[in-house]
Amino acid sequence: MSQNITIHDKSFVPFIDAEGINQRVVALAKQINEDYAGKNPLILVILNGSFMFAADLFRKLTIETTISFVRLSSYAGTSSTGAVNTLLGIKEPLTGRHVIIVEDIIDTGKTLASFLPVIAQQEPESVEIATFLVKPTALKYPVHARYVAFEIEDRFVVGYGLDYDELGRNLPNLYVLA
Ligand code: IMP
Ligand code: MG
Repeated sequence: MSQNITIHDKSFVPFIDAEGINQRVVALAKQINEDYAGKNPLILVILNGSFMFAADLFRKLTIETTISFVRLSSYAGTSSTGAVNTLLGIKEPLTGRHVIIVEDIIDTGKTLASFLPVIAQQEPESVEIATFLVKPTALKYPVHARYVAFEIEDRFVVGYGLDYDELGRNLPNLYVLA
């Protein structure tokens, strides 16, 4: 198991190791392979935090599937109309597609609550969410993820793509604030 670490001014302790993460990613990929066989889903990755989870999940998909990336600017979600204009990089037509949004973590749910209406405008065939983490007790917006690797307590975590002030994304294990 990994050691305690320091990032910027804070100490973090090991929380979920790479092997435990991998087991859950394998399980989610299996579920998606079954649920979306013959449906050619579009995996829509919300950058930055979910890039590592998305890459690991995507390489385990054996079905026909495509991938695209979006980035929400720092002020996305300040208002529902604002979110539309701050969306960067969404080029593929979503009309009639089965969309699976991939997120790193659902905390309050605000990011996804502001993003889902933008997706819905394009009238996809279906929309589901795959997220690495959910903090159920922190949820303030009605966002439901169909595919969840881990439900965790409302504590700050870092690693496996998630950052503390932009550092720590490269850690293969997940850590929690000490
Ligand atoms: P939400 O909009 O409140 O659901 O927040 C989602 C975003 O907040 C995530 O995409 C992360 O960027 C960030 N976030 C929330 N909790 C954590 C955490 O524990 N560690 C690192 N980033 C977090
Ligand atoms: Mg993020």
